Order: sequence, then C-alpha cells, then structure tokens
Amino acid sequence: MELAGRHAVVTGGASGIGAALVRRFAAAGAKVTVGDIDGAGAAAVAAEVDGVGAEVDVADEAQNRDLVAAGEARFGPVDVFCANAGIAIAGDPFTDDASWDRMWSVNVRSHLYAVRAVLPGMLERAGGYLVHTASAAGLLTQLGSAPYAVTKHAVVALAEWLAITYGPRGIRVSVLAPQAVRTAMTAGIESGDSPLAVAGVDGMLEPEEVADAVVAAMAYERFLILPHPQVAEYVRRKAEDPDRWIAGMQRLQARLDAAE
Ligand SMILES: NC(=O)c1ccc[n+]([C@@H]2O[C@H](COP(=O)([O-])OP(=O)(O)OC[C@H]3O[C@@H](n4cnc5c(N)ncnc54)[C@H](O)[C@@H]3O)[C@@H](O)[C@H]2O)c1
Repeated sequence: MELAGRHAVVTGGASGIGAALVRRFAAAGAKVTVGDIDGAGAAAVAAEVDGVGAEVDVADEAQNRDLVAAGEARFGPVDVFCANAGIAIAGDPFTDDASWDRMWSVNVRSHLYAVRAVLPGMLERAGGYLVHTASAAGLLTQLGSAPYAVTKHAVVALAEWLAITYGPRGIRVSVLAPQAVRTAMTAGIESGDSPLAVAGVDGMLEPEEVADAVVAAMAYERFLILPHPQVAEYVRRKAEDPDRWIAGMQRLQARLDAAE
C-alpha cells in the first residue's frame, strides 16, 4: 500500500516505535491520528505532523472506538491501523493475576478492540491495512518474561488468523517483530535493568530504522516485518529442531543467571 493520502492511526504513538511510525507515515504523505495513554505526549507528536492526537487506554474497547471516531471526524475512514501500544514486565507463572491480566489487556485484547473498531468499515470498502506490533519474542521467546513471551505470541497468532481470513476480502495484515529497539521500554537494557534485557544480544535498532522497515514492508504488503533480519534464521532453526533450539536458549539463560 502506498501511504500518500491515506489515514493511518497509530497507538502508543507518543514515544518510541509509535512516534517514529507517526513521523515516517506523515513524511510519506499520510494523515495520522495518534493515540496514547499519555494524552499530552500524543498531542505533542500529533502537532508535529498536523495530525489528530488523543488520549486512549487501548485496553478499553470504547476508548478505541472513540480514537477512531476522533480521527475519522477530521480525516475520514481509517486506511491503516497500527496496534502498537504495548507494555513489558519481568515475570513467570507466579506473577500475580492482576499483572498477567494487564499484560493480556494491553498487549492482546487491545488488538481485538482495534480490529472491531476498524474492520467492519474496511470490509465494506474492501480495503484496509492492519499492522500489529508484536515482537521477536512472539516468534521465539522472551527470557525473563513469560507474560511478554506469551502475549506477543498471541499477537502473532491473531495477525496470522486475520491475514488468512480477511486477506481474500482486501484486508492487508502485517506483524512487526523486532528484537531490541532503543525506546523507553528498553531503557536500562545495557545495565540489565530492563525486563527485556536479553533482547539486546543482537544489538539495538533505533525506532526510525524500525519505522523505515515498516513502510518498506507495507509497500510490498509483506506479512512478517523483521527489522532484525537474523530473526528469520532463528525462527527457521527453531522450527527445524525445537529441542536443539530449547537447549541453546537454556544455555543463554544459564549465562544470564551466572552474570547476575
Ligand atoms: N523496544 C523494544 O525493544 C521492542 C521490541 C519488540 C517489540 N516492541 C513493542 O513495540 C511497541 C512499542 O514499544 P516501544 O518500544 O516503542 O515502547 P515505549 O514505551 O517507548 O512506547 C510505548 C507507548 O505505548 C503507550 N502505552 C502503554 N500502555 C498504553 C495503553 N494502555 N494505552 C495506550 N497507550 C499505551 C506508552 O505511553 C508509550 O507511549 C510495544 O508493543 C512493544 O512491546 C518493542
């Protein structure tokens, strides 16, 4: 899809990857609606690109609808929805239910709410683009965070299902699966203070590099967006020999434990 003249909504647009997507989409000629739980941040990024900025908690279905309505009031039907807002915590099976629930709500259910808000209109128009920010953790795993690994796998599963089911009706779907990106979420990664610590083993990308990868993939309507190309090789190895992959990850986990 060419972005010029399109209306794109980006959640989590106040910072990091989302803010970079907003700026990159605007540079490509798109009209952009920016949603974030940080309403002032969303307004500030929107102001840079003469867009619409709105406070939204993506975990709340009505607020997703309101975000879309606010954008459509100014720019018309949504052509592209980037469900990008997400959160990370360290955690394991014993992490409390409230924290698991928040991870499900923000990282997964928000993607359902986005789809419910825009897909009916897209199907009527027989066109639209859903971009789901998952993570390489959704294809591989996230050492140190079961809630992150599990919820990001769910995002990949949802995106695959949507692509298969609605692709023939004109709906394009992509899933974004980076490893470490230099944002607020990975602040402290070098010192081991981030819940995503190990994601940095292959180096950090800048959010702008990720946004470039998204726009390039969207031009060809490619499903899987891997800003770190080595992830494709890891996924291949995992599929080819899961036991060997698990053993390798166990060694990596042991190295991290020893370094603590
Ligand atoms: N940074 C990385 O290394 C990395 C790697 C892979 C995937 N991701 C994913 O990229 C996405 C963006 O993360 P980022 O790295 O730019 O982090 P970030 O913290 O810079 O940005 C996330 C944004 O989402 C917003 N947000 C959080 N909860 C929200 C909610 N309930 N409703 C609305 N907005 C909310 C935050 O206010 C923030 O502006 C996330 O889904 C994250 O899981 C990040």
